[in-house]
Amino acid sequence: MKNILVTGGAGFIGSAFVRLIVNDYPNYHIVTFDKLTYAGNLDNLQPLKGAQNHTFVQGDIADLEGVRGVLEEHDIDTVVNFAAESHVDRSILDPEAFIRTDVFGVYRLLEAAHQHGIGRFMQVSTDEVYGDVESGFSTEDDNFLPNSPYAASKASGELMVRSYHVTYGMDTVTSRGSNTYGPYQYPEKLIPFFITEAADDRSLPVYGDGMQVRDWLHVDDHASGVLKVLENGKSGEVYNIAGEDIRHNIDVIKLLLDIMDKPQSLIKYVRDREGHDRRYAMSAQKAEKELGWERQHTFEAGLKQTVQWYLDNEWWWRKIKTGEYLEYYKKQYAERLAQAESTS
Ligand code: NAD
Ligand code: TYD
Repeated sequence: MKNILVTGGAGFIGSAFVRLIVNDYPNYHIVTFDKLTYAGNLDNLQPLKGAQNHTFVQGDIADLEGVRGVLEEHDIDTVVNFAAESHVDRSILDPEAFIRTDVFGVYRLLEAAHQHGIGRFMQVSTDEVYGDVESGFSTEDDNFLPNSPYAASKASGELMVRSYHVTYGMDTVTSRGSNTYGPYQYPEKLIPFFITEAADDRSLPVYGDGMQVRDWLHVDDHASGVLKVLENGKSGEVYNIAGEDIRHNIDVIKLLLDIMDKPQSLIKYVRDREGHDRRYAMSAQKAEKELGWERQHTFEAGLKQTVQWYLDNEWWWRKIKTGEYLEYYKKQYAERLAQAESTS
C-alpha cells in the first residue's frame, strides 16, 4: 500500500481519515478525490496545506473516465471510498442523488478500480443497513433491513462491493460505522446542528418523543477503525466500527445543553421523521478481537471537545449556514417548528 485514493475525503469522516494518514504516515501518498457537493469542504483539509504527501483532485466517483485517469496518473494501489450522500433527512426529500452516488457511483468506482487492477478496495458503510434493532447488538452476519432511502442506497453499494469480490476476485473490505460526531461535521446532523443552533439560542427541533437510540462514535475513532480494517481486515470481510455507547436522543441533547450552559426550554418536540428507525446498536467485538481496534474517546469527553471546537471555530460553520443551507433548513424545519409553536 503506497498510493491511496480517498474518495469523499473533503467530507467529515473522510477528511479526519486523510488528516490522520497524511500526518502520521509520511510514506503513504494520499490523493483526495471529491466532488465538493454541499457537504464537501476544502476548509476540512486546510490543516494539510503544504503537505508533500497529499494531492487534491475534484471529481465525481460516477465519472468512469475521470476516476480511471486519476488512478493511472497517481499509480493508485488502494481505494478507500467515503464518498456518499450521507444525510437521512435529505434522502427523504430527494432520494435520487443517493442512488446516483451511493449506488451507481460505487459501481462506477468499482469498475474503474477493477479495470485499473487495484490492490485493495475499501467501502465505508453504516450501521443503518441493519435497520431498526429492537434489542441486542447487530453483528456482521445479521440481515440487511434498511428503511430510509439513504440506508437502502448504502446497503446496495455494499452489495455491489461484495459482487466485485465474489465475481472478479477483487480484494475488498467493508466497515460499518455507527453515528459519528466530532469537529468539521456539516451542521445538519444532530450534534453539530444542535450545537450551532444552541450557540445562537435558537430552538432545537427534536423528532417525535426523542426516545430514539443511537450508538455514538468519535470521528477520530471512526478514522482509526477504517485504517485498521484497511490494513489488517481479511479480504471479502465486513467489520462493525461501533461506539458501543448507546443513548436516547433526548439524553444526548440534555447533556449538550448542560455542557453549553443553555436552558432546556430551547428543546421543541416536532413532527417525527418519516420511517424513523427507533434504535441502532452494534457490537464491535469482531474489529476489537480480530484487528485489535480500540476507541480512545468516551462520549462525555468527546462531546465536550466537540462543543469547544465549534465555539472556537465559528469561521468554519457560520459561512456554511447561509444560501443552500437556509433553503434546506426551511424545507426541513419551518413547518415543523411552526406547528410545534402553535400546539404548545
Ligand atoms: P459527508 O456528507 O460529510 O461527506 C461526504 C463527502 O463525499 C463530501 O465531501 C462530498 O463532497 C463527497 N461526495 C459526495 N458525492 C460524491 C461523488 N459523487 N463523487 C465524489 N465525492 C462525492 O459524509 P460523512 O459523514 O463524512 O460520511 C462519510 C462516509 O461514512 C459515507 O459513506 C457515510 O455513508 C459513512 N458513514 C457516516 C456516518 C456518520 O455518522 N456521519 C456513520 C457511518 C458511516
Ligand atoms: P442524524 O444526526 O440525522 O443521524 P441518523 O439519522 O443517521 O441517525 O440523527 C440522529 C438522531 O437525531 C436521529 O434519531 C434523528 C434525530 N434528530 C432530531 O431529533 N432532530 C434533528 O433535527 C436531527 C437532524 C436529528
